[in-house]
Amino acid sequence: MARITLRQLLDHAAEHDYGVPAFNINNMEQGLAIMRAAQGCDAPVILQASRGARSYAGDIMLAKIMEALEAMFPAIPICIHQDHGNNVATCISAIQHGFTSVMMDGSLKEDAKTPADYDYNVAITAEVSRLAHMVGASVEGELGCLGSLETGKGEAEDGHGFEGALDHSMLLTDPDEAARFVAETHVDALAVALGTSHGAYKFSRKPTGDILAMDVIERIHARLPNTHIVMHGSSSVPEEWQEVFNAHGGEMRETYGVPVEELIKGIRMGVRKVNIDTDLRLAAAAEFRRIAVTRPDEFDPRKFLKPSMDAMAGICRARFEAFGTAGQAGKIKVIPLSDMAKRYAAGSLAPTSAPIHAAA
Ligand code: G3H
Ligand code: 13P
Ligand code: ZN
Repeated sequence: MARITLRQLLDHAAEHDYGVPAFNINNMEQGLAIMRAAQGCDAPVILQASRGARSYAGDIMLAKIMEALEAMFPAIPICIHQDHGNNVATCISAIQHGFTSVMMDGSLKEDAKTPADYDYNVAITAEVSRLAHMVGASVEGELGCLGSLETGKGEAEDGHGFEGALDHSMLLTDPDEAARFVAETHVDALAVALGTSHGAYKFSRKPTGDILAMDVIERIHARLPNTHIVMHGSSSVPEEWQEVFNAHGGEMRETYGVPVEELIKGIRMGVRKVNIDTDLRLAAAAEFRRIAVTRPDEFDPRKFLKPSMDAMAGICRARFEAFGTAGQAGKIKVIPLSDMAKRYAAGSLAPTSAPIHAAA
């Protein structure tokens, strides 16, 4: 059994210069696809569940799926992470269900729609860090709001994202403020805003520096070299999967995601966690459509789900290889949560301290 904290995993990634994709999970099929891909290339894994995933599957079902995946893939360290926690209760209840890491997204208020001010964000994120660290769990915070630099809008398609339009000062994380935020909240990882947004409709053209501000990462990494940077909204929305989707009755408008080469550039500049949900949704849905159109007599759900799992696993494997995650699982010796708690209590896991050594 190898349930790892985000902090230990990202410290290992920083020490060995790689990034870890964090894939969203809602059901058994996504879990199996991600884990089979990881096992196939010896990659450690971050499985993240949103509030939506928790209410879709139910906390008990989700926790049991995680347990089953751990038992089936014992050689793969798995970090179980709450994606976009909106308040203290969401984060703490995730830990009660076995999550080893939580995101307190205080960039938005509890309704996950209203942009919050800096003081609100610091207060709630620091409180989650204080509580989570007591039991050894890790914390990701977010500073700046995810949204498009082209339109000023957040993507509300998945129910998470601000309403209306914001100016660039709120859509781009400020490095000085980031340094203050990390010092005041003690987060283990920091999600930054640089022009990415959730969902399929990120950019109206292949992104260049004016709409995907990779320099934000460079500047934050220069200020905070030991803080793990997280990129949200990092699906690439692969053209080949858009084509399969649209060729079988789907109607996805022209759109561009974050090119994989930009994600690799980000990892070289200090990004350690790369959030990906939409790509797996798109590939799975494209396969459903393909089967439905090409085999109209088919009614066994497994005949739809199996190709969907293979499609998702193919994307996961490609990201593990591109980000340098492949080949790292066997090198990690998992530190139990109880030990992590002692290290926080002893003050040896400050957000700005050098990575803990995690080699097997
Ligand atoms: O936060 C964004 C993820 O894509 C999760 O989406 O809330 O629809 O599960 P969801
Ligand atoms: P995508 O919608 O780009 O996959 O982003 C997912 C994400 O950031 C989850 O937190
Ligand atoms: Zn996100």
